[in-house]
Amino acid sequence: MKTLIKNIKTLYTSKLKPPVKGKDMQNISSLNNAYILIDGDLIKEVGTDYSGSLNNIFVYDAADLICIPGLIDSHTHLVHGGSREYEFSKKIAGVSYLDILKEGGGILNTVKQTKLASYEELYNQADKSLDEMLLFGVTTLEAKSGYGLDLDTEATQLDVAIVLNEFHPIDIKVTYLGAHALPPEYKNKREEYIDKIICDLEIIKEKELAEYVDVFCEKGVFTADETRRIFTKAKELGFKLRLHSDEIESIGGTKVGIEFEAKSVDHLMAITDEDISLLAKSNTIASILPSTSFFLNKDYAPARKMIDAGCAVTVSSDYNPGSTPSENYQLTLQLAGNKLRMLPNEILTAATINPAYSLDVSDKVGSIEVGKRADFVLLDCKNLEYFIYHYGVNHTKAVFKNGKLVVNNRTIIKEKLWN
Ligand code: NIG
Ligand code: FE
Repeated sequence: MKTLIKNIKTLYTSKLKPPVKGKDMQNISSLNNAYILIDGDLIKEVGTDYSGSLNNIFVYDAADLICIPGLIDSHTHLVHGGSREYEFSKKIAGVSYLDILKEGGGILNTVKQTKLASYEELYNQADKSLDEMLLFGVTTLEAKSGYGLDLDTEATQLDVAIVLNEFHPIDIKVTYLGAHALPPEYKNKREEYIDKIICDLEIIKEKELAEYVDVFCEKGVFTADETRRIFTKAKELGFKLRLHSDEIESIGGTKVGIEFEAKSVDHLMAITDEDISLLAKSNTIASILPSTSFFLNKDYAPARKMIDAGCAVTVSSDYNPGSTPSENYQLTLQLAGNKLRMLPNEILTAATINPAYSLDVSDKVGSIEVGKRADFVLLDCKNLEYFIYHYGVNHTKAVFKNGKLVVNNRTIIKEKLWN
């Protein structure tokens, strides 16, 4: 089955080999009056003025929409029980994120709700979030566990993500985050909890429940040395690594991430200049989460400094019930412009080819090029600058995933996929 997307006002894509670093992040190719020819799930041709046959071809008229690659969100906490709106008032009154956690709220509140939720409840809640994300143009994402903190509940979270990867149009890459918080029952037994995670890693590997391992390395959560212990075992077992680092204070996590060749170090609001230079020399991606800074009323990561130093940057949502309760990835990208002072071209690189690299799928997705999967978004925007500037609304008109039209006129077309 072939599909022709014609009359694309402008098609924007990176064509560089990732990781795309520093100045190269500005390098986006644009093609006016473009078409894309899809064969099955792959891009067969990209060009202007299609002159081939129209026999047996489904033609989609993009009628002056612009086109970008399917968006890739490389950091989410997709699967979790419940929500935390009751802590929001405390937050407004000025109680800090870490103080809420110390009182047994925060992540631990969601842990309680996740343990109480049935498989079906977790599945339906995550499925609903995925629908929202797809409507915003996300076609691939990463999903972490970390709200069970015991093997059974963590495994359930991971399994929900694996099954959703099968049944939802969005592709999902799965990360085990057992080291997200110290469970209250291990309060005076930190060592034992780390030992337990190290043991559980073997089971997670054996059951193929996750591709990546992540740790929340932060003052009052897990130290750099504890991260090193977990990463040593994870790497030995063949997991790839990601890291929550320098979110609130810099305690050495980023150096550990680079030393262990983590795919990404994430947050980086408190990153040091020394770590920025080390990151620039590595192939570890600097993953910045401006929606989290926005919701926590914290400083924004020094994105400009990182790009100017030559780092490869991604911008991710961090969707979760505590620090980022919003599936609106387009808002994240608009904050990257307004708050991180990233340019529209840099933002597109940071939302497509670089996150594809950090999720090990850049050979298949992340750019609109012949031979790659036909994952792209049609936006009701005059140009790419407009997409970043006109904030707070959903610009998506249509989404193609693996060559199939999965969103049309801002509505998900489920039948096509689930028939
Ligand atoms: O990335 N920082 C740690 N984890 C999440 C927040 C999780 C939560 O508050 O539930 C984050 O911001
Ligand atoms: Fe996170």
